[in-house]
Formats: sequence, structure tokens, C-alpha cells
Amino acid sequence: MDHPVTDDIAHAVDVLRVGGLVAFPTETVYGLGADAANPRALRRLFAVKRRPVDHPVIVHVARPTQLDDFGRDVPQVAHTLAAACWPGPLTLVVRRRGDRVAAEATGGRDTVGIRVPDHPVARALLDAFGGGIAAPSANRFGRVSPTTARHVRDDLDGDVDLVLDGGPCTVGIESTIVDVTGAEPVVLRIGGIGEERLAELVGRPRLTRRTEGEVAAPGTLESHYAPAARVELVGAAELDARLGCLRAAGIVVGVLDAPDDVGEYARVLYQGLRELDRRGVDVILAVPPPATRGLGAAVADRLRRAAAH
Ligand code: TXA
Ligand code: MG
Repeated sequence: MDHPVTDDIAHAVDVLRVGGLVAFPTETVYGLGADAANPRALRRLFAVKRRPVDHPVIVHVARPTQLDDFGRDVPQVAHTLAAACWPGPLTLVVRRRGDRVAAEATGGRDTVGIRVPDHPVARALLDAFGGGIAAPSANRFGRVSPTTARHVRDDLDGDVDLVLDGGPCTVGIESTIVDVTGAEPVVLRIGGIGEERLAELVGRPRLTRRTEGEVAAPGTLESHYAPAARVELVGAAELDARLGCLRAAGIVVGVLDAPDDVGEYARVLYQGLRELDRRGVDVILAVPPPATRGLGAAVADRLRRAAAH
């Protein structure tokens, strides 16, 4: 399919209404969508993803005002973040309203992650569907997230009823997840919205990143975001020496493209990891960006997890 038109959106809505699965583009990565209120569709979603049923998925909605339709007792801080960042790469974890979000979407939890994606195809789909669309990244559990429709087909092939092609994702890395159910906001996963931006909006002292191991969110498992090849992180200054050393030992090495601009690095990161896997290299050498600038922290985080695999 070329870029989707009104007919494709209408077809996608029909598929969702009968409990089918639709992969769709967002600005971050492609999502594998199911009706968030349909337990049967959600069970199939988890099966296709090969995702443990207790790992919650994000519910996507069309408009920021729907935060209160899907969540309850939503605190002011969530409204502040939603007003400033939506549509955009921010997920807010709030208390769940059981009538709009099935327990299957949240692993039985009383909370739900909600976001309004910033992509014309995603928004057209959500607008036409009206309800919430539960969607994890459209890859098999634990693998690198897809940033093109082609990646989705490579991973999920016949297991998805429809793939909407909206071109390559413009952010390229998953949303930042902030849990606002406690006394202060907690960043569960750093992503498309940088911590500096969050701090500007709700004040730095109230943002604490949970320590490793404390978080039960799958996006924070070390085994996530890993290609098949072994990923090794090196400083820019050591790259050539390390490359020479590995090659001398007969190891097939690929060097990950590392653009100077961190936004561009985020955009090409998953594509680059997939491409090197496709070439069948044994080792991927990657130079992480400075973690101090914007998306740099998110890119460095995903590379660190990929290397820990
Ligand atoms: O950018 C994104 O967030 C993409 C696009 C498709 O929106 N989605 C995505 O979904 O990355 P997924 O399933 O691969 O990651 C969702 C993350 C997981 O780490 C999950 O644990 C966390 O969101 N999450 C969802 N609901 C949660 C909840 N109620 N409490 C804690 N964590 C939650
Ligand atoms: Mg994922």
C-alpha cells in the first residue's frame, strides 16, 4: 500500500471493530493496534507479539481531552504535560477507567499508559475509530522496534490483518513514559521527549528516574531493543583500533551509522541495527551520542540496553 487514503482508514476501522489487528505509523515507531476495549482482540495482540500477558501496552487516543475519558482521578500534573506535549512522544500512566480500557490491555493493572501520537495517519485512524487503540511497538517481543512499514512486514508478516504505510517515522525512538499516579511524576522510560523538557514543564526535583530493576515495564528490560548481532559500544576515539582488532580476529564487524545530530541519530538508529543484522555481521560497533543533549539520552539508553543483551 502507498500512503493511506480515506478508504484505507475506513477499512482499518472495520478491521479493528471486528477484533482484528492493524499496524499503523506513529511519529515514534510503528504500533500494532487492537481495540483497547475488546479482550479477545487484546489476547490475540499479545499472542502475535509473543508478549507476556502481564506486560501492559499503551492506549492511543485521538485528542488530549480524552485523557479523562480513559483515565480517572487524573492529576493536574498530567494535564499540564498533556497540554504541552500532545500530540507527541509522551505516554502518561494514570489510573484506568475500566469501561474504556479492558484489563487485558494493562496486564490487569489498575493503571493505563495513554498517549496522543503526532502522525497524520495515526490521528486519522484514531479519529475515525473513536475509541482507544491499544498498541505496543509492531515487532516481536524483545526485538528492535519498527520504523517503516517494511520492518513491520519483515517481523509480523501474515500475523497482522492490515499494515498502514505512513512512511518512515520522524522521531524513530519510542515515547517517554511518565507515571503520574504517585506523589511525584516518575520517568519510567526516557524517549522522544527529553528530561530537560519535562523539567521545564513540571520542575526537575519532582522527576526521579527509577533505578534499574525497580521497574516492571518491559521497555526497561535489558534484553529489549537488541538485534541478533552482539552490540559493542566504543568511544569515537577508539573506534578504528577496535575495528582493526576484531577484523584481525576474523570477526565480521559492522559499524553503526552515528550522525552528529542526535535527532537524526534517533531517526536512523533502529533502521541501522536492522540493516546490519540483515547483512549478517557478528558484531555491531556503535559510538553512542553525548547523553546530555535532547534525544541523546534516549539513544544512549537504547544502545546500552542493546549492548547488555
Ligand atoms: O512510542 C511508543 O511508545 C510506541 C508507539 C507505538 O506508541 N509504543 C511502544 O509500546 O513503545 P511498547 O508496548 O513497546 O512499550 C510500552 C511501554 C512498556 O514499557 C510498558 O511496560 C509501558 O509502556 N507501560 C504501558 N502501560 C503501563 C502501565 N500502566 N504502567 C507502567 N508501564 C506501562
Ligand atoms: Mg516495544
